[in-house]
Amino acid sequence: MNTKIIKLEETDSTNTYLKNYSPSDEEEMVVAVADYQTAGRGQGTHAWESERGKNLLFSILVRPVWVPVTRQFLLSMAGAIALKDVLDTYTEGITLKWPNDVYWYDKKISGTLIETSICSQGIKRCVFGIGLNVNQEEFVSDAPNPVSLRQILGHDVDREELLQKILDAFAGYYEFLRRADYMDVSGIYHQSLYRRKGYHWYEDKDGEFEGAIVEVEDDGHLILHDKQGHIRSYSFGEIKIKL
Ligand code: BTN
Repeated sequence: MNTKIIKLEETDSTNTYLKNYSPSDEEEMVVAVADYQTAGRGQGTHAWESERGKNLLFSILVRPVWVPVTRQFLLSMAGAIALKDVLDTYTEGITLKWPNDVYWYDKKISGTLIETSICSQGIKRCVFGIGLNVNQEEFVSDAPNPVSLRQILGHDVDREELLQKILDAFAGYYEFLRRADYMDVSGIYHQSLYRRKGYHWYEDKDGEFEGAIVEVEDDGHLILHDKQGHIRSYSFGEIKIKL
């Protein structure tokens, strides 16, 4: 896959950088990676904080017009399973917490921010932003339960090597999607889900309840089964998994 990598010492946000970038026709995948972001963005209104030069802060721009809009969460799944494949080679205990976090046991090691624009045929542009805690030793922000690879392994990890492995893994799953091999991507994602089995506590607008994951649909809806036998469907932001 023809990939261009843009290395930045500092930028506001690698997602914003790529949202404003005009790729040439040959540039199938463009990656912007920064040592520091002055306005790193997380989900919703959250900021994404990261110590300078310690972690991986990068975004991937692709134009998968062949992914139907109703199945756009498959891109998110492809990115998440690529991250998990690579992190599995460093440690045990990696799972994917719906919709877009990577967990090490009950702690968050990575978050992703996906921003897409659509056209009549499908996904026009998709910017897939990843913040991965690599060598940071201490977290002082109010981010909930963060952890880094350094804290897990007890030693630093080469960020460039790690990035290359993630990009290779992502390119592999991106090819699955190009071939419309949706079942494999979604199957691996489901196998990797945090709290995939059994009942766990959730909170929606009506309060707390115990639910079990039935599936995550290709459009991103989380389908749960509650103890009263009801099926419940949620989109992003409508439900929280209680930790
Ligand atoms: C979250 O868990 O809230 C998502 C965090 C996403 C952070 C990454 S860091 C690289 C890219 N640029 C941004 O501004 N955000 C994403």
